[in-house]
Amino acid sequence: MLEVMDVTKTFKERTAVSRVNVFIEKGEIVGLLGPNGAGKSTTISMISSLVAPTEGEIYAGGYSVKKDRTHIRRMIGVVPQEIALFQDLTAKENLRFFGRAYKLKGKLLQERVRYVLDIVGLTDRAGELVKTYSGGMKRRLNIAVALLHEPELLIMDEPTVGIDPQSRSYILETVRELNRTKNMTIIYTSHYMEEVEYLCDRVYIMDHGEIIAAGTKRELKAMLMEEDSIVVTLSRSAGDIAEVLEKREDITRVYTSGNEAVIAAKKDAPVLEAVIQWTRDAGVDIQSVEVRSPSLEDVFLHLTGRTLRE
Ligand SMILES: Nc1ncnc2c1ncn2[C@@H]1O[C@H](COP(=O)(O)OP(=O)(O)OP(=O)(O)O)[C@@H](O)[C@H]1O
Ligand SMILES: [Mg+2]
Repeated sequence: MLEVMDVTKTFKERTAVSRVNVFIEKGEIVGLLGPNGAGKSTTISMISSLVAPTEGEIYAGGYSVKKDRTHIRRMIGVVPQEIALFQDLTAKENLRFFGRAYKLKGKLLQERVRYVLDIVGLTDRAGELVKTYSGGMKRRLNIAVALLHEPELLIMDEPTVGIDPQSRSYILETVRELNRTKNMTIIYTSHYMEEVEYLCDRVYIMDHGEIIAAGTKRELKAMLMEEDSIVVTLSRSAGDIAEVLEKREDITRVYTSGNEAVIAAKKDAPVLEAVIQWTRDAGVDIQSVEVRSPSLEDVFLHLTGRTLRE
């Protein structure tokens, strides 16, 4: 369904995307993860033929993004990171406008508008001006626009940023439903690891323009099979715990943020004793301790040294 082969994009001196390879089968939901500036949106723009690759080839459904832009745009729907709507028009008017841009008209256009409004749950509010919408409703309308022409491949660039929990779970369920009932192929970009855990079969992790890991969730987590993650919450900032603990052989890495320390250690290593010792010396209380198997977030931390939302 999608082949991204050795694709590079440079803007003047800056390499935004470097020799990226992505292969996706029809019906997959694939996650694209990476910190700010990793090159996710640039990759998406190239796949959807909005930005031309400096090097490399991209084929979607057998069509080349360079040569068959009309076909590519017909088969791909993109939910852009930035909301792209006319604030002074109603939802329905927005959809009619974008529908016409896809050459939809008359009865068919009407049907599609009704259909996508139903999918994103905005039928009741369709006659209201977009500027009176909540953030979550705007996000949902942004998704409706991408679905108007019934794309085979839907690419969503951080579709749940800054919205209420209800809209968020509505969007997640919509994605699942489109995949299940239409066998729609979906690329899902998010900074929320739990969304990717929930939705995606396979995950690509990008950093500094490169794909640094790819695989199923199970495969990625297997990279950390020999490890446990111990999450300790302290009574004050955990800042200086890392320095002491990282000296130990059995501790791979310590990540601190506020009062929390995430300690990656060899399985069954006596890490707690070391933590307790440290808290005694430092005069800090422990508020909670949790030992868990590695999550995708831990894999990400392991590979990039950063958390997703840093
Ligand atoms: N039109 C452009 N001109 C110059 N540099 C650009 C342009 N678009 C993107 N870049 C640069 O390319 C790099 C990757 O940007 P991109 O938007 O693809 O990252 P991202 O992974 O989507 O990040 P975020 O999570 O913040 O959305 C950044 O360094 C960015 O500044
Ligand atoms: Mg982006």
